[in-house]
Amino acid sequence: MDQISEAALKRYRDRVEMVLSRLLPPADESPSELHSAMRYATLGGGKRLRACLVYGTGEAMGAPLDALDTAAAAVELIHAYSLIHDDLPCMDDDDFRRGKPSCHKAFGEAMALLAGDALQTAAFEALAQAAHLNAQTRIDMVAALAHASGAHGMVGGQVLDLMAGLNTSLDELEIRHRRKTGALIHAAVRLGALAAQPQIPAGLDEYGAALGLAFQIADDLLDVEGEAVVVGKTVGADAAAGKATFPALLGINGARQMAQDLYQQCVASLNFLGDNGRFLAVIAHRAVERDH
Ligand code: IPE
Ligand code: IPE
Ligand code: MG
Ligand code: MG
Ligand code: MG
Repeated sequence: MDQISEAALKRYRDRVEMVLSRLLPPADESPSELHSAMRYATLGGGKRLRACLVYGTGEAMGAPLDALDTAAAAVELIHAYSLIHDDLPCMDDDDFRRGKPSCHKAFGEAMALLAGDALQTAAFEALAQAAHLNAQTRIDMVAALAHASGAHGMVGGQVLDLMAGLNTSLDELEIRHRRKTGALIHAAVRLGALAAQPQIPAGLDEYGAALGLAFQIADDLLDVEGEAVVVGKTVGADAAAGKATFPALLGINGARQMAQDLYQQCVASLNFLGDNGRFLAVIAHRAVERDH
């Protein structure tokens, strides 16, 4: 990857880390156990792909960075909550996340559940109060993020994931992945665009949808081929849980090919941005070709 894109990613990651740290309640404020769990699960880890998408899309569309901070942090707050709940014993029952014990391992199940709840509401509170955005933009962002997070998006997808057996069809798996993971990634792109203008260009919707699916196919592949220390979570968990995944249905090469095809779709959908779309294309490339 070129140095300019690498530098931009680092700048965005550092920036959202500061915004998140400021938004989250201090660990020493009561109830300290809750606030510590929220900070533990949110800060100092993760690739920050969704935040980088908010910043990258927003800047490509001409929005100032100040107008993107809260949206970038809000999407990461929702993501962090989704990971805490995803790891709970009643869901995937995973003990490791981002290279350390998952939130319920460190703080207990009840505190993890509540930390997830509080992260979710913190995301919407922050957006509702975002000083750099006008009222209509705030409402549009809240609506887009809520839609992508709830029954029609991530939560609905998680339910499909829990209910599915190995005899899932490819179409069903695609719908599930688009919802459980794709929706929030797509929302990150939409929020970035909304900071610049009320109408989201069709090319960005195509990009967000293709990227979201490609990202979860890559996640499925990492569960088969990845190294636990690099991935930062237990590998082989999908097969152990008897989950249908793209590698399980298509084979490793078939899944890789599908991710590549989606990457090409991402690139084509960015044509309308000309040179301004370059960074988003790099992000899509990294989302598909990654080792963690
Ligand atoms: C992991 O997401 C869960 C999925 C939706 C696949 P990421 O791979 O983006 O996790 P972090 O934020 O980098 O830890
Ligand atoms: C998670 O999918 C999707 C979420 C909404 C969190 P996975 O269950 O495959 O994510 P990992 O592999 O645990 O990160
Ligand atoms: Mg899961
Ligand atoms: Mg999981
Ligand atoms: Mg996974």
